[in-house]
Amino acid sequence: MNVYDSNRMVDLLRPLGYKVTDEAEKADVLILNTCHIRDKATEKVFSELGRLRQIKEYREKQGQPTLIAVAGCVAQAEGKIIVQRAPYVDVVLGPQTYHRLPKMILEAARKSGNVIETDFPTESKFDFLPAPEKAQGHTAFLTIQEGCDKFCSFCVVPYTRGAEESRPVQAIIDEATRLCELGVKDISLLGQNVNAYHGQGPDGNIWDLVKLAEKLSTIPGLSRIRYTTSHPNDMSDALIAAHRDLPTLMPFLHLPVQSGSDRVLKAMNRGHTVKEYYEIIDKLKKARPDIALSSDFIIGHPGESIEDFKATMKLVHDITFAQAFSFKYSPRPGTSAAISANQVAEPEKDARLQELQAVLKDQLTQFNHEMIGRKIPVLFTHKGRKEGQIGGKSPYLQAVHAQGDESLIGQEHMVEIDECMTFSLSGSLVKESTSH
Ligand code: 5AD
Ligand code: SF4
Repeated sequence: MNVYDSNRMVDLLRPLGYKVTDEAEKADVLILNTCHIRDKATEKVFSELGRLRQIKEYREKQGQPTLIAVAGCVAQAEGKIIVQRAPYVDVVLGPQTYHRLPKMILEAARKSGNVIETDFPTESKFDFLPAPEKAQGHTAFLTIQEGCDKFCSFCVVPYTRGAEESRPVQAIIDEATRLCELGVKDISLLGQNVNAYHGQGPDGNIWDLVKLAEKLSTIPGLSRIRYTTSHPNDMSDALIAAHRDLPTLMPFLHLPVQSGSDRVLKAMNRGHTVKEYYEIIDKLKKARPDIALSSDFIIGHPGESIEDFKATMKLVHDITFAQAFSFKYSPRPGTSAAISANQVAEPEKDARLQELQAVLKDQLTQFNHEMIGRKIPVLFTHKGRKEGQIGGKSPYLQAVHAQGDESLIGQEHMVEIDECMTFSLSGSLVKESTSH
């Protein structure tokens, strides 16, 4: 979602004459878009700010005024601390106020001292964002829902992104249509609880994710739809059936389970059991047998015993994941788990995480290996690193390379997979392939 937000900030600043540069030394405005989900991500902000300060000082010595803005969830949660620890920061803005960025940049350029906006505004930022003018390529993110009301014990999202809110259907259709006109073929719908989507439809009714995805499927050029991140409790039967019935819905699902122990799930306030998770996965596999599964795991949540951890390992062995993200529990300010007396010791968390990650890596390798000899549709999105090579994505979100002409970029073609590396596949174009 931060990638999406960053792109929208670019759209907002373009009318002021700004363009994106890859070289920080050339930038009149440096924006750090930040993440507060774990302590590691937050600490990075301050080390990165030290680097940006040097650039700002160097540029200003050359007579080039330079502004530093900190955006995103660290700005939301720690705005005041940021300007105390790093007073050279000019602008601080939370994830719900970035539509005000142009005004804040102009204000900061005029005066000395910081400009801070981290309230939750009554207006929706989406009503103030211009239509995208440039797509980054043939795949794009599109935020359809933001915030969360679930309050898992470990999570800062309800505090930083705010309450759950769905964008109206028409606004999403307009944005998706615009992206497709710009050449996008594969859209990932984003939300902290994306499958809880319930937006105002053009017919006056509330639309769910299924209805929205069906409508989006009619947009010319849009051949692939994905959505992330989902909560098991919002995995409706209709959504599961859509994985069978809607050809544009890709056979890939990121469905975080966090733990394989009912005791821990309860302590996490997740609102579902291990059995319910298995049942959802069973139904999904029946609806779409080739569905590739992904998940998030937290290791060492307060109170997690070795038996609880073993239950998580069992779940991983039973279900098998095509990919997964796993993290050591990181206490976050303001969350209920952070004040629990039963914190798990760091070395214990390290050992458990290592054990889990070894199995998840084997499963990922296994999943990729099973592709060898298969013919799969690949949406080509970019030139490969090697001469004459092009790269793209499989329906299962794997990176795939093949020898092929650059003119095929932006098209979907069948590729026969013959090799599997750790994080990518390679193969050759199937002659009688059809493009979409
Ligand atoms: N510690 C570790 N991991 C966390 N996540 C969220 N909060 C924490 C935390 N305090 C993980 C969850 C979530 C993913 C986005 O980040 O697994 O699904
Ligand atoms: Fe955080 Fe997801 Fe739980 Fe919401 S449902 S509190 S975003 S982990």
